[in-house]
Amino acid sequence: MRVVKIGGSTLFRLEELWRSDGLSEVLRKAVVVHGGSRHVDELSKRLGVRVERLTSPSGVTFRRTTREVLDVYVAAMMKANRDLVSFLQAQGIKAVGLSGLDNELIVGRRKRLVKALVGDRVIAIRDDYSGTIERVNVGALRSFMRLGIPVVASIAYDPMENVPLNVDGDKVALHMALSLNARELRFVSDSAFLANGEVVRRLPLEDFEEFLPHARGGMRKKLLMAKKAVESGIDKVVIQGLNGRTVIA
Ligand SMILES: Nc1ncnc2c1ncn2[C@@H]1O[C@H](COP(=O)(O)OP(=O)(O)OP(=O)(O)O)[C@@H](O)[C@H]1O
Ligand SMILES: [Mg+2]
Repeated sequence: MRVVKIGGSTLFRLEELWRSDGLSEVLRKAVVVHGGSRHVDELSKRLGVRVERLTSPSGVTFRRTTREVLDVYVAAMMKANRDLVSFLQAQGIKAVGLSGLDNELIVGRRKRLVKALVGDRVIAIRDDYSGTIERVNVGALRSFMRLGIPVVASIAYDPMENVPLNVDGDKVALHMALSLNARELRFVSDSAFLANGEVVRRLPLEDFEEFLPHARGGMRKKLLMAKKAVESGIDKVVIQGLNGRTVIA
């Protein structure tokens, strides 16, 4: 079993992606998870919905997900999902477009308290609709697999509050790979991991701490998920970009 996370950063360049480094073969037999940050940014701009970017006390930036931003998030992610599904179908791959809401595929829990740094003060946010992932419904996923390649948008479902949640796509991919006992986890993004402008082809865990400072933002998150994947015993963990690939081992 193989889980492939398609980064929102590549969804506007699907033709290019398709031609890159064996992906057309890889995607024929996979469970696909996808992000969609750019879709969310563009739709919110078009709708005139202000999205606030905040920084957590540990220094990670995130999008504040108010109820209004949540609506934009869900709409934009489902548009990203449709784009990817129709692209795959045009390539002759039967794809089943899903999100974590369908059949409670990804169950999460809303973060009832989110902390953010404003100047030198830490503020508490209680109306955020981002969440943590609790479990992946493997039975449902396997049923969908009988119909085609599941293509899952990174939206979780909180059954306690009956709401969709903004969840990180890289985290969803890791959870899915672990729940399915996948042998391979591949993060496809616009770039492989770069250090000093060069693609790092192989990153052994022994060198991880030394190389991590080269990664910022989305790549930093991806590397941390990749590390967890290797530590959890997934055989093959790859960050694949349009410029090459990084194998984490
Ligand atoms: N050392 C690095 N090597 C490569 N990319 C890096 C590095 N440091 C930061 N980045 C940034 O990380 C980005 C990839 O992460 P990002 O979260 O934006 O994409 P994604 O995960 O593919 O998309 P999405 O989050 O929408 O699913 C790159 O486009 C680049 O701007
Ligand atoms: Mg990302």
